[in-house]
Amino acid sequence: MRVPIIAGNWKMHKTGREAAELARQIVERIGDRRGVEVVLCPPFTALAAVAAAIEGSDVKLGAQNVHWEHEGAFTGEISPRMLLETGCAYVIVGHSERRTHFGESDQMVNWRARAALANGLNPIICVGETLEQRRAGTTVEVVTGQVRKALEGISRDEIERVVLAYEPLWAIGSGLPATPADADEVARFIRKVVSDLYDAAAGDRIRIQYGGSVKPDNIGGFMQAENIDGALVGGASLDAESFAAIVRYEP
Ligand code: PGA
Repeated sequence: MRVPIIAGNWKMHKTGREAAELARQIVERIGDRRGVEVVLCPPFTALAAVAAAIEGSDVKLGAQNVHWEHEGAFTGEISPRMLLETGCAYVIVGHSERRTHFGESDQMVNWRARAALANGLNPIICVGETLEQRRAGTTVEVVTGQVRKALEGISRDEIERVVLAYEPLWAIGSGLPATPADADEVARFIRKVVSDLYDAAAGDRIRIQYGGSVKPDNIGGFMQAENIDGALVGGASLDAESFAAIVRYEP
């Protein structure tokens, strides 16, 4: 049984104070919702404030990126240890905005994911195709290739702590989500890669989120899809009402 996981990616939104307020509102509105793991991923500067705001609730804290070294001359980067100290359990790695705007390669995504795992953080590894790739019919090849490279060197034990997020680039922030059927098909191929790389149990157990214009009115469809176990939510996670409605989805 895979426990669904719904994460809010706040991207470069909210100061510490604003983030704490939003986190408090979310905790209040989620209320007694059980059976769904909820993760909030504010910017680095708001992690401590959000950690304090969610204390005593079941909501978990996640960061949006992590470096692969413990420390050193890496201006602007944040190490796994630094994230752990703020109370992070999760960290997003390889988001398409990092890949597109900051030149992150599959190799870097792999290093980041491995460093997260080695230090006790659970990575949410993002993969997804561009519109051109989808039109060219190379979606499965592109996405499964990204998954294989991201998982290189990750052990059988560690794979249990990995979450994969399938986020087609054309669906992110566009208001045009993939259909649950299309997302499910790609998720099925992703699951197969994990089965091939590890074993059937690993493929069966890995949690795969869908991301890209997830809203309260479409979450139910994604959650019904056999191979999708949650969502990575951008825009709609910045509003307590809509994020709580997503968390409280009815399939
Ligand atoms: P969106 O973003 O929900 O605003 O489309 C999703 C993401 O980038 O993770």
